[in-house]
Amino acid sequence: MGGFAGSHHGTVAQLEERGEARLICTCDPRAAEFGPQQEQWRFAQRGVKVFDDYRIMLEACHTELDAVVVPTPIQLHAEMHASAAAFGLPCYLEKPATLDHAELEGMIALDARLSKASLVGFNFVIEKPRLALKERLLAGEFGGMRGATLTAVWPRPTIYFQRNEWAGRLVVGDHVVIDSCLGNALAHFVYDLLFWAGRSSVYSCAQLAAVRAELYRAHAIEGADTFFVEADTSTGVTMRFALSHACSGPSSQSEEVICERATVRYVVGQHAEVRWTDGRVERIGLEPFDSLAENHLEYYRYLRGDSPRPAATLADSRPFVALNNLAYVSSGEISAIPPELISPERDEKEQKDYLNVRGLQAAQDQFILRGTWPSVAGWRREPGVVATLSDLPRFHDVVRGMAQR
Ligand SMILES: NC(=O)c1ccc[n+]([C@@H]2O[C@H](COP(=O)([O-])OP(=O)(O)OC[C@H]3O[C@@H](n4cnc5c(N)ncnc54)[C@H](O)[C@@H]3O)[C@@H](O)[C@H]2O)c1
Repeated sequence: MGGFAGSHHGTVAQLEERGEARLICTCDPRAAEFGPQQEQWRFAQRGVKVFDDYRIMLEACHTELDAVVVPTPIQLHAEMHASAAAFGLPCYLEKPATLDHAELEGMIALDARLSKASLVGFNFVIEKPRLALKERLLAGEFGGMRGATLTAVWPRPTIYFQRNEWAGRLVVGDHVVIDSCLGNALAHFVYDLLFWAGRSSVYSCAQLAAVRAELYRAHAIEGADTFFVEADTSTGVTMRFALSHACSGPSSQSEEVICERATVRYVVGQHAEVRWTDGRVERIGLEPFDSLAENHLEYYRYLRGDSPRPAATLADSRPFVALNNLAYVSSGEISAIPPELISPERDEKEQKDYLNVRGLQAAQDQFILRGTWPSVAGWRREPGVVATLSDLPRFHDVVRGMAQR
């Protein structure tokens, strides 16, 4: 009921009023702490049964359910998905389904036995202007794809990493979690880039051939908060990702797809544009998009048989999870950003503390535009090595080693 699960509850309550769905039951080990929210969501009037153990909930209610929504800590997704699957129920899994390639394979195998596939909720895949641009890409209108880039700064205050026991962690208990901006907060946009480069169908993602990465941290966390990642796809497209939570001020992110005849720039929540090499510029407005409501509705259409597939399945997540895993293998270590570049910044209005990395934007620009790694530009560390899919078996040891250091 807390965290992002609260947003799902708000959305499902609205969709229930529109006759699109009905919430039968819900659970949270801290259910009693959410008294005011339960009143706000009108659980009593709606007849929603509340449990504090999801296994007992599924045992009691499974015959009444079509699907289970899993907006819980990442390390619980696999066991919750397995429990739902044991009753033949598919899940709306919050992204990332998992960030462990081996665990993902287990989830894919279980999901294949269900009559309906589970969804992984990457927010923006189903935006109509995005799908229309992907159709045009696939039709060859912009010429062959040369590259794709994602630049993103999403400031996160120090307390963001203290909000629960898994934020910014590499390992939680037995689980390799690798919570980070690459795998969690900015996962939507990372997935979008893989989606742009997928060649086989509209919803397809690129397959990876090689990954190089440098991982950094400014915050006092186990994991990384700043990523520079380069990936070659199996069709020869080079993708670059420059992402960070170690900043202050407004959030921004921009997806760019560079093709022979045009560059497509897509800024979620703002606009898209196609810049043709002959000088023409096409501007595409993006209507307000309630990503959670739209993703619920799109999944319901699939569950009812009105749409052929969920927008992102567990199997579609393979390149995304591999990218995350190989970034750690390639980087080999999470390096401290040179301390002289880091300055604390207090946001008095928010009453929150941020860390700012001087030169972050320049480092991102140099990497995105020229491929210049921060290690070469003065952030002291060795460059990452090339990692390929055959290196995936090393992922667990690499991450556990990082956590021990
Ligand atoms: N789509 C988006 O835009 C978006 C935004 C934020 C978070 N998320 C995703 O949502 C998921 C949850 O993230 P969060 O930051 O809200 O996590 P969180 O740690 O705040 O947990 C969410 C809720 O799960 C509950 N929970 C913990 N253990 C449970 C259990 N055993 N059974 C039932 N409930 C349990 C917690 O008590 C909490 O109420 C993650 O996968 C995250 O990536 C998605």
